[in-house]
Amino acid sequence: MSPAARPTEQERAVDIHVAGVTKEFGGAAALHDIDLTVRPGELLALLGPSGSGKTTLLRIIAGLVEADRGHVFFGGLDATSLPVQKRQVGFVFQHYALFRHMRVADNIAYGLQVRERANRPPKAEIRRRTAELLDLVQLSGYESRFPAQLSGGQRQRVALARALAVEPRVLLLDEPFGALDAKVRKDLRAWLRDIHERTGKTTVFVTHDQDEALELADRVAILNQGHLEQVGSPDDVQDHPATPFVMTFLGQAARFSADIRDGRVLVNGKPVPVAAQRSTIGRASLYCRPWHLTPTAIGQGHYTGTISGIRRLGSIRRIEVSQANGTTLEVEVPLRTSLRLGEEIGLEILDGVIFRDD
Ligand SMILES: Nc1ncnc2c1ncn2[C@@H]1O[C@H](COP(=O)(O)OP(=O)(O)OP(=O)(O)O)[C@@H](O)[C@H]1O
Ligand SMILES: [Mg+2]
Repeated sequence: MSPAARPTEQERAVDIHVAGVTKEFGGAAALHDIDLTVRPGELLALLGPSGSGKTTLLRIIAGLVEADRGHVFFGGLDATSLPVQKRQVGFVFQHYALFRHMRVADNIAYGLQVRERANRPPKAEIRRRTAELLDLVQLSGYESRFPAQLSGGQRQRVALARALAVEPRVLLLDEPFGALDAKVRKDLRAWLRDIHERTGKTTVFVTHDQDEALELADRVAILNQGHLEQVGSPDDVQDHPATPFVMTFLGQAARFSADIRDGRVLVNGKPVPVAAQRSTIGRASLYCRPWHLTPTAIGQGHYTGTISGIRRLGSIRRIEVSQANGTTLEVEVPLRTSLRLGEEIGLEILDGVIFRDD
């Protein structure tokens, strides 16, 4: 077959379909009836707080943990009863360790070298593929080092090369950059995005870091206490959060009690420029980001409070406004603001996301 006629990795990429997956540990539910599709060639981030079930779901997809109920499909084929060796997945674990006694090149080639003879590529082919992967993860020249002679970020890059060496159908990454400092994590994010574009593998990436998920992923799946709250593009989940949990988990948000009457949203009896369905009537919660609020004269806005903090965040300032009852909220203001600590101000709500209280 000529190179031009060979299917590209993108064309060969498979989808992952999780259907009705439920898992309990000792009577406590870790995953409740999860339905999730990862599209072929997609980079999907599994995002949620600690203990929300991210690792458990990833391990069920990998075949390392058995679900109590439900199925996992790869490319339309039921993989639920396939053992991990047959699933053709590459993974990088949350607390991953390379083989310390093996040099970088041997770590990468390991998955190929341990194959039974019939499936093992010839030595020269293993060497060629290892060199190609070293180049891909930008570690050419490091092949003879031991893991102890690498930085944390370099080790994780070796771990990823090792996962890719066996030409997996899907790539499963559990907080691969979890232990690294913020600067290195940011560099590795861009690097992983680039690798993903070049290899085109269907990838599930676990993180509890919102920024990492939103920056890196094609789509984000948000887990909370074993429930899948929302799946959508980074824009979808930020602009149209499906639940109050998603709204508050993705960033600072202040909650206001609101009333909906004739399709109008009222806070403290004053209308707010946020649309509600005309037919809806009743109590609701309005969630506002710091840029949904703006200072105004006392008595003019929807809320009155005292400035209890002023911080600079790059090119803007965040002020903290406290009410007598102890509740505080954050408001974004221009850098050149004349507001002072201890000053009493009014706040006007410019925008927000409304959820019915049921
Ligand atoms: N082998 C196990 N035995 C018993 N309980 C478990 C086991 N594995 C996970 N759990 C429980 O299942 C829940 C989900 O755990 P999981 O490791 O999937 O969370 P996570 O989202 O990956 O968290 P983190 O961000 O801290 O890694 C937790 O309450 C955890 O204590
Ligand atoms: Mg985990």
